[in-house]
Amino acid sequence: MADLSANLGFCTLKNPVITASGTFGYGEEFLPFYDLDILGAIVMKGIFKEPRPGNPPPRLHETPAGLLNSIGLAGPGSGKLQEIIRRLRAKTTVPVIVNVCGEDDGEFAEVAGIFSAMDEVAMLELNISCPNVKKGGACPAQDAKHTFRLVRRVKERIRKPLIVKLSPNAADIVAVAQAAEEAGADAVSLVNTFLGLAVDLDKRQSVFANTLAGLSGPAIKPLALKLVWEVCRQVRIPVIGMGGITSGRDVLDYILVGAAAVQIGTVNFYEPAAAVRIIGEIQAEMDKLKIKDLSEIRGQLQA
Ligand SMILES: Cc1cc2nc3c(=O)[nH]c(=O)nc-3n(C[C@H](O)[C@H](O)[C@H](O)COP(=O)(O)O)c2cc1C
Repeated sequence: MADLSANLGFCTLKNPVITASGTFGYGEEFLPFYDLDILGAIVMKGIFKEPRPGNPPPRLHETPAGLLNSIGLAGPGSGKLQEIIRRLRAKTTVPVIVNVCGEDDGEFAEVAGIFSAMDEVAMLELNISCPNVKKGGACPAQDAKHTFRLVRRVKERIRKPLIVKLSPNAADIVAVAQAAEEAGADAVSLVNTFLGLAVDLDKRQSVFANTLAGLSGPAIKPLALKLVWEVCRQVRIPVIGMGGITSGRDVLDYILVGAAAVQIGTVNFYEPAAAVRIIGEIQAEMDKLKIKDLSEIRGQLQA
């Protein structure tokens, strides 16, 4: 049987499948569907220090093979999330990754510090790339210099591995990835959602109060795969790939272009136990192709 373990350098996951932030609640919501211990890891929905209501409805809009969202990082705040994580730990040993948000660099560092101090948290993912928040401070991933400054500041405050989540909406995502690496990021994850627009022709206005929204799901897979491939060739730290994954073959595609692990997002909404199926498919596919372990194909794309 193929070995599915995924080596991130600073840790090894039992398999490469991580559930993506914002698409898996705080883990608890999925306990009725399957045993979370089968996953490589889970990422919590993005969290700020204080509770946030998020954007006014509508927040979701389906497109052909995709989903536009404008949630606006609604959440219960860091105190409540600490309680949720402690409760979750009593029910599963799956590694928990906290998706850290901030209105400004100071808040990013503070929230990262809070969760770095929790034994129940395995690592942090810095969400510098949310497209659905209006204040400019929430999206440093547009700018390499800002990313460098912020990552360095956060690294000084924490003792856990730091994944920096990148935006496909940056003019030069490779430069931002390199800035994160130089500032001490332990890994980068990409991509967050692509900015998109849906309009209501009758009302002559956007479907969303914020005008633009973030596109995810199978529609973005070729675009995301290309960006992951580009970043993998230009950084030495591990890359966690995501965007439109719905099958075991999709996961192996990301590993082939160089990803060390992947995250699965939108598929969790319409198939809550998708991860179980996908992990089974990776195993079956690797056995069929006689691939012994992921390192055998990681980054082996002939291009
Ligand atoms: C409804 C929704 C909410 C999301 N919330 C977050 C979030 O809080 N933090 C974050 O870093 N990414 C968030 N994302 C982005 C996903 O984690 C992921 O990067 C993106 O959806 C691409 O993967 P997919 O095509 O498999 O869904 C959200 C995505 C969706 C659809």
